Amino acid sequence: MRLLFDPNYIQIIKLLEGKMSNENRRSWNKHARRYQKKCRFNCNVAHYLSEAYPMENELNLLGNVSGLKVLEIGSGAGQCGIAMAKQGAHVTCLDISEEQIAIGCKYAEKENANVNFVRGDMEDLSLFSSDLFDLVFSAAAISYVERIDKVFSEVFRVLKDGGRFLFSSVNPFWFALGATELWPEENNNPSYFYMGPERWKWNEEDDFEFITYRRPLQDYFNSLIDAGLHIKKFIELEPVLNRLTEDTSFFMDEKEIEMAKRFPQGMIVLSEKHIK
Ligand SMILES: C[S@@+](CC[C@H](N)C(=O)[O-])C[C@H]1O[C@@H](n2cnc3c(N)ncnc32)[C@H](O)[C@@H]1O
Repeated sequence: MRLLFDPNYIQIIKLLEGKMSNENRRSWNKHARRYQKKCRFNCNVAHYLSEAYPMENELNLLGNVSGLKVLEIGSGAGQCGIAMAKQGAHVTCLDISEEQIAIGCKYAEKENANVNFVRGDMEDLSLFSSDLFDLVFSAAAISYVERIDKVFSEVFRVLKDGGRFLFSSVNPFWFALGATELWPEENNNPSYFYMGPERWKWNEEDDFEFITYRRPLQDYFNSLIDAGLHIKKFIELEPVLNRLTEDTSFFMDEKEIEMAKRFPQGMIVLSEKHIK
């Protein structure tokens, strides 16, 4: 099925059931409402991790997006994509969770923003033709994916020549720190170099789990390079101290907040596709 690139209506395109990360999908379906209630991201500016960290209006990494064709992957409820659509971009938001997307459709309608929402797995962007997008964007979602090599080569394929790929994610150093200092009882892999899955619960009492994948920075960088992308910028996110409260850093307890003042919790990588 091809995506109809029509910015004049909001739609959910039901994808053919393919191989999907079903457990994360089910968990995000259960967690979506609670997540949105807690994070309360606004639809005016793209965020990178939480409001405790500099956002796009402070970092200015994307520049003027008006007129650009943008794909947001792991969009959740699409607040970043909606913000870009309000600035004149033609935005498609893709997420694996239909609950996240359903919430996103409501937000887009309320904001009067033209965004196409698609349910799909970012490891397989075959729904989109090659050389389609000026910008692929992703905030805090890549760590849920097992095969970043697949994601990055798909991103390369759907980008136009000169197109940009910007993603934020949890800094691998933070996961290793978490393994040794913050959540040692849930974690058997204290090495920074550990590569593989980790299962965890958002709340102790939940009857569902998430799977995230740990990998060192070299794996991110080498996978981007192998996909043919040129790394342009790397940012280790430093919190804005007076914004680092339990309210803005919505999933952190006091100990984590103290850690976040000293060590990078998040990162942003900006890369570009150049054919020659
Ligand atoms: C922490 S949330 C971030 C959502 C949004 N970018 C934000 O900043 O609020 C991670 C999102 O990744 C989505 N996700 C997880 N695995 C995915 C996959 N393989 N393909 C597409 N989306 C995925 C989840 O459904 C969830 O909405």
